[in-house]
Amino acid sequence: MVAQKISGAEVSRAIEDDLVAQVSSLRQQHPSFSPRLAIVQVGGREDSNVYIRMKLRAAERIGIQAEHVKLPRDITENELLARLTELNESPAVHGIIVQMPLDSQFDIDGHKVTDAVSPHKDVDGLNTINEGRVATGDMGGFIPCTPAGCVELIKRTGVPIAGKNVVVLGRSKIVGTPVSELLKWEHATVTVCHSKTRNLSEITKTADILVVAIGRPEMVRGSWIKPGAVVIDCGINPIPDATKKTGHRLVGDVAYSEAIEVASHVTPVPNGVGPMTVAMLMKNTVLSARRQLERLLAPKWPLTPLRLVPVKPPPRYLLKIFCLNTYCVVTLCTWF
Ligand SMILES: NC(=O)c1ccc[n+]([C@@H]2O[C@H](COP(=O)([O-])OP(=O)(O)OC[C@H]3O[C@@H](n4cnc5c(N)ncnc54)[C@H](OP(=O)(O)O)[C@@H]3O)[C@@H](O)[C@H]2O)c1
Repeated sequence: MVAQKISGAEVSRAIEDDLVAQVSSLRQQHPSFSPRLAIVQVGGREDSNVYIRMKLRAAERIGIQAEHVKLPRDITENELLARLTELNESPAVHGIIVQMPLDSQFDIDGHKVTDAVSPHKDVDGLNTINEGRVATGDMGGFIPCTPAGCVELIKRTGVPIAGKNVVVLGRSKIVGTPVSELLKWEHATVTVCHSKTRNLSEITKTADILVVAIGRPEMVRGSWIKPGAVVIDCGINPIPDATKKTGHRLVGDVAYSEAIEVASHVTPVPNGVGPMTVAMLMKNTVLSARRQLERLLAPKWPLTPLRLVPVKPPPRYLLKIFCLNTYCVVTLCTWF
C-alpha cells in the first residue's frame, strides 16, 4: 500500500480563499472595518522571525491588517503585560498572539503572558480560559491553531474519527494536549503518550489515527504504524544536509518514506501541518473580528437607559432593617 499524501499546503489555500471571500464581504457591508491582528515578539530569534514573516504574508493575502509589535529583549515582564493590556483594550485590534518562545534577557513567565491576552482576542487559543473550554468540549472560544489544523486535515481524508483509536505522541500545551482533547470531543478513544511512556511502538501500532508532536526527527518508524492508519506529523526538525544551500533540511517526527509504505494517509514535512497552523490563525482572527463587530452592532437601546442610572447598593443598616421587618411580618403572618 502506498499512502495518500495529505497536502496541508492545498487545504490551507482553500481555507485562505474562503477567508478572502469573508473579509471582502465584511468590507462591502462595513467599508471602514478591517480585521486586525497584533503579533507580539520579544527579541529577535531567527526561527520566530521566519514564522512571523509567514503569518504577515498570509494576513496580507487575506486582507487582514497585521501589526508586528517588536519589543526589545530587555523588556520587563510588567512592561510586556502592560503592552498586552493596551492591545486588549484597543477596539481596533481583534486578535493578539505572542510569538513563543520569548527571546528575553529576563526569566519572563510564559504562562502569565499567554493568560494576559484577553480570552476574547486570544486567537492562538492559549489563554487558560480557552484551553479549559476546549478541554470540556465547549468550542465557543478559540481553538489552538496547530491542533485545529491537525483535526481539519484528518477530516479532509474522509476517514471518520468517531469510534476510532487515536494515539497522540506528546502532551505539550500547544499541540499534544489540545489535539488529544479535540479528538476526544470528536468521539475518538484517545491515548496520550509522552517521554515516560513504556512500549511506545506497541501503543502506536494500535492507532487508527496517529498524531505525532514530540520534536524528535524521524523517531516514528514504519514498523510503529498500523497498516492503513492516518498519520499526522506535527514535527518540524532541521537536520544537517550538505546538499542544501542553508546546510540543513526539515524533517518531521515520522520517517515519511517508511510511513507511506504502511499508512493510508500521511502528512509530509514541510507542507503538511505547518501551513495549516497559519491558516487556522487567520481563521481565528477573522472569527474574532466578526464576533467583535457583532457585539458592536448588537442593539443596545433597552440596556442603555438602565446603564445610565447610577446603581448604588443600599447601606448595610437599611438592609438589616429590611431583613428584620420581613422576618417579623412573616412570623406574625404564620401566627395569625
Ligand atoms: N507545524 C506547526 O505549526 C508546529 C507547531 C508547534 C510545534 N511544532 C513542532 O511539533 C513538535 C512538537 O512541538 P511541541 O511544542 O509540542 O514540543 P514540546 O513542548 O517539546 O513537547 C514535546 C512532547 O513530546 C514528548 N516527548 C519528547 N520526547 C519523547 C520521546 N522520546 N518519546 C515520547 N514522547 C516524547 C514530551 O514528553 P514530556 O511531556 O514527558 O516531556 C512532550 O510531551 C516540534 O517538532 C515542533 O517544532 C509544529
